[in-house]
Amino acid sequence: MGRMPRVTRSASRSRPAKESRPIPPGPRDLLGLQGVPSGTLREVLAAARDLRHAGVRGDELRGKLVANLFFEDSTRTRISFSVAAKRLGAGVVDLLGSNSSVNKGETLIDTARNVEAMGVDAMVVRAKQAGAAAMIAGAVASPVLNAGDGRHEHPTQGLLDLFTLAEAHDRLSDFDLSGLSIAIVGDVASSRVGRSLIAGATTLGARVACVGPAGMVHAGLSVLGASVEHTLNDVLTTSDAVVMLRIQFERQGEGKTPGPAAAEAPRGSPIASVREYRDGYALTEAREAKMKPGAVVLHPGPINRGIELDASVADGGRSRVLRQVSNGVWVRMAALRWCLS
Ligand code: NCD
Repeated sequence: MGRMPRVTRSASRSRPAKESRPIPPGPRDLLGLQGVPSGTLREVLAAARDLRHAGVRGDELRGKLVANLFFEDSTRTRISFSVAAKRLGAGVVDLLGSNSSVNKGETLIDTARNVEAMGVDAMVVRAKQAGAAAMIAGAVASPVLNAGDGRHEHPTQGLLDLFTLAEAHDRLSDFDLSGLSIAIVGDVASSRVGRSLIAGATTLGARVACVGPAGMVHAGLSVLGASVEHTLNDVLTTSDAVVMLRIQFERQGEGKTPGPAAAEAPRGSPIASVREYRDGYALTEAREAKMKPGAVVLHPGPINRGIELDASVADGGRSRVLRQVSNGVWVRMAALRWCLS
């Protein structure tokens, strides 16, 4: 993905916004999980656990203002960041791409600098372009949290997935995931969720397998530390967690999501047929029955029910989908605090 994601501010980095002043040690960016040490992951996850335990609705961030800059659609992530910021007493302002001056030709950097000039303390950025959050972080002084940049990374989703995996397998005391096998199934090539989770889970000791057809799971993913598999049935019976991904049709070809029965996928898709994809890779009730006792099912949402996941599995006993959403608020509280304090 071109550049290494930066987690903390580097004193040597060139920052046009503040050329003449030293960079303060305080604010930190959260741009990705690749390269983040296990100690940092554990610190943020443990903070989320402790916030949840205390049921905090505090005022640690009272007087701070968080700007959500969302240049791409979102339901869970944007609301979750807003809820998290408000639970810590911060104010929240929202800029949605569909209503912004980016549509009039303004650059992302100019937009971010203008928002910063109004006095916000942190920016949560979602954009279609891989690397957009890092680019903005390089141009503003306030901390930037990446809420998903194209096919690159989605670090808070990765953290909430790690939290939910640790919760399901009784690892909340130390977030040590060693001995666990995690299968990430589907459109991993297009998935920022997949990339962040591979990085975080392998750093915490888990084994990760990416499973899908060749157009979605290619050999290059192994450099991130995951194994590459093309037969779901082989991996299913040995996995402690199965993380299902949506096919990101909007990122490829004609951009439309077809129905589950579509014999042919839209032109430019990474698969030829949705029906065939379901035959090979959907988590159906029959496949779920083959999973290990205690194994759980995760999905970052939005779910395309009947394509990658059967409705009965999404709503069934193994599903941790809504736990992920609940845990996401605690994780984002911890992430905001980590970046702002
Ligand atoms: C994901 C995203 O936007 O990357 N969703 C999310 O943030 N919860 C995954 C997806 O869109 O399929």
